[in-house]
Amino acid sequence: MAKINRKENQIFFDFNNMMSDYIGAEEGIREKDISAVSATVKGAFTSVIEQGSEGWQGWMDLPFGQAEIVEDIIATAKKVRKEFKTFVVLGIGGSALGPIAVFQALCHLHYNELPPKMRKGPKFYVEDNVDPERMAALLDIIDVKTTMFNVITKSGATSETMSQYLVITDILKKALGADYASHVIATTDHVKGNLIKLAQKEGFKTFYIPSGVGGRFSELCPVGLLPAAVLGIDIKLMLAGAGDMVKKGKQSSLYKNMPLMAATLQYIAMKKGKNISVMMPYADSLKYIADWYCQLWGESLGKAVDKNGNAVYAGQTPVKALGVTDQHSQIQLYTEGPFDKVITFIAVDKFRTEVMIPEGLKDFPDVNFLCGNTMGTLLNTERKATEYALQKKKRLNRTIIVPEVNAYTLGQLLMLFMMETAFVGAMLNIDTFNQPGVEEGKNATYAMFGRKGYEAKKAELDSAKAKTDRYIIK
Ligand code: PA5
Repeated sequence: MAKINRKENQIFFDFNNMMSDYIGAEEGIREKDISAVSATVKGAFTSVIEQGSEGWQGWMDLPFGQAEIVEDIIATAKKVRKEFKTFVVLGIGGSALGPIAVFQALCHLHYNELPPKMRKGPKFYVEDNVDPERMAALLDIIDVKTTMFNVITKSGATSETMSQYLVITDILKKALGADYASHVIATTDHVKGNLIKLAQKEGFKTFYIPSGVGGRFSELCPVGLLPAAVLGIDIKLMLAGAGDMVKKGKQSSLYKNMPLMAATLQYIAMKKGKNISVMMPYADSLKYIADWYCQLWGESLGKAVDKNGNAVYAGQTPVKALGVTDQHSQIQLYTEGPFDKVITFIAVDKFRTEVMIPEGLKDFPDVNFLCGNTMGTLLNTERKATEYALQKKKRLNRTIIVPEVNAYTLGQLLMLFMMETAFVGAMLNIDTFNQPGVEEGKNATYAMFGRKGYEAKKAELDSAKAKTDRYIIK
């Protein structure tokens, strides 16, 4: 693990602009509002922390209990880097969004276009869809003979991933014959599903997704660690960052507990009708953290019933935005539209590289004010200005400050959002870790394909009201 000054690399959570002192009594949260929900907060803290890695909370243990697996991952990644020119992840949802987010955050922003000598690993692609044009486009640019495919599925049954698997293994078999199995690494549950059976039958190198770790909480297990290690990312450092955030999340004092305070404020905001959570990093490297967050937040908290079976229709719609790009598209709405949002900025203090805006337009004062500054200064100044504009318009907003984007700070960030999600779910008394709404769609797809065992669902679909042409304009 690379050495890092941990003290200088702690992420901060600034929630001033969530508070009534800063955005006014009508919209803002008062300390007494926080005190008023203390029993709920305490209950959520106890249930998440004391439950620990029980049930579906195994992800909280990942920073501490994977030493042996991590060594296997690092050794496998080293071999992949040596022997393959391309690494492709086949997966969807929680089996794809984390690898994409970490790749974007910690690798060169034009990584695949770099000459091999300037990359720490093979070219990298994640196929998180079944769009035929996308698959065909991938096949146009890769040579399967020099590609390693990492098929990732917790359930081992997801149609999209299994169809990608079928397409790729068919091509591999035709190109390589029996040797094809050395081009596939499976990451899946150690007992459930089809992929584990196929892996055992075909002899694929296999990594396991621990039993208490669900898809959207799986980035810090082999799901995310193997692709990251292949890319040359310091996965031990990433786990160290996540582990330090777990420690913060176990602090009993609310005002010292970053994930719990973040969750408490979101919970109060939701109770005040703030139904939208905007995630807006001000860094291209963190752009896909917003995508990853959208799945985590949306799929975990969007629930029809609570744990007692009461209809609650809980959730906050996650929206991704990118600073400053979306200042020129969405900020107008956030500043002047409905009072229904909490906006989270992710700020980066120090960019890993800087670009100077050169001098040279002294005769044009309207442009010259930019000259001699860095682009990073411009970006961060615009963020602060936007934060100010939102505060002035009494819009709830909060900022997570990342000193620099690196494996250690990224680990903290991922764990912060996972713990915040678990705490909010517990406050809402919902099952954070299931996804019955997703299952319904999956089952309907199986039925439409005539899959065995889904005859009743097929009958249900067939008896649904047929669409009328009256409402289709041609
Ligand atoms: O969070 C979840 O559980 C889901 O979004 C899954 O990640 C997604 O459906 C893919 O599932 P699997 O990894 O089983 O293929």
